[in-house]
Amino acid sequence: MSGVDALAELDARLAASHMRGQWKSEAFLSAAIGGPKPAGAPYAWRWADVMELMGAAERAMPESLQARRSLIFQNPALPRGTTHTINMGVQMIMPGEVAWAHRHSIAALRFIIEGDEKLTTVVDGRHCVMETGDLVLTPNWSWHDHHNKSDQRALWLDVLDVPLVLGLNQTVYEPGSGADQPNVEPGRRVGALRFAWRESIAATRALQLDPHHGQAYEYRDPDHGGPCLKTLSCKLVRLPPGFSALPSRTSASSVWFVVTGNGSLELAGDEALSWGPRDNFAIPNWTRHAIRNRSDEEAVLFTVSDEPVLQALGLLRQET
Ligand SMILES: [Fe+2]
Repeated sequence: MSGVDALAELDARLAASHMRGQWKSEAFLSAAIGGPKPAGAPYAWRWADVMELMGAAERAMPESLQARRSLIFQNPALPRGTTHTINMGVQMIMPGEVAWAHRHSIAALRFIIEGDEKLTTVVDGRHCVMETGDLVLTPNWSWHDHHNKSDQRALWLDVLDVPLVLGLNQTVYEPGSGADQPNVEPGRRVGALRFAWRESIAATRALQLDPHHGQAYEYRDPDHGGPCLKTLSCKLVRLPPGFSALPSRTSASSVWFVVTGNGSLELAGDEALSWGPRDNFAIPNWTRHAIRNRSDEEAVLFTVSDEPVLQALGLLRQET
């Protein structure tokens, strides 16, 4: 028997006994020289498409009660997720509606697209007002329900660590018994839950310009100074008129929402994704890119990445 045949026979015997030789992993390791293969594809979801389908969802699903009227952006090159660790989507609640209480081991956050002082999320008994441009957190295992007591529709961006938690097989869910959450002992939930737009944008505009990232303000928990959620880092990014960032890449994946402005995301080769107001896009991990403001007005974008997870595990790599 030749050496090749002997190895093939051994591989078969190992497989029959639910084992595998490490030599079978050599090709996988070789493919990772220079960094991981990006998971998923860069992709943009246009606001006009989102709102057309949201209108259809409103007609098909007349009330947002136990089930959320929420559309999730599915990366075309992944089995699930907007990136391989993050889900992003848009949720709409009409006047008078409530999204009933529940809690889960998945962490979530909302960036408010259209809101006012009569729109609230209750997070473990704390009432958080949701005005346009605010960021409201629902850390994992916090009860949360959403109430629209205004006479206007409400829209917000939902960002969750669903694919990460699913991948770790750590999903736990508990529905509430009705619209409102059970009484939570006072002081159970400490730390920042709401970041007001006015303060965030002022802090962003005050930052020095970074040639790779523009003016990138990270929302940090004021108590410990760390990322606002254990698994997700949130940033507000301002690009001055005509600003063209230098290319970079990071092992973190990210999702983006355009608050205002028009520009493009330059990718390898001549590929580029254009973006305008309220468009959404995903940048997979380890994808070289450069962001550009292609107008003579400022652009402001909200972005979320899985950076804290990689940082905690010693896996964060950045290349400029
Ligand atoms: Fe939830």
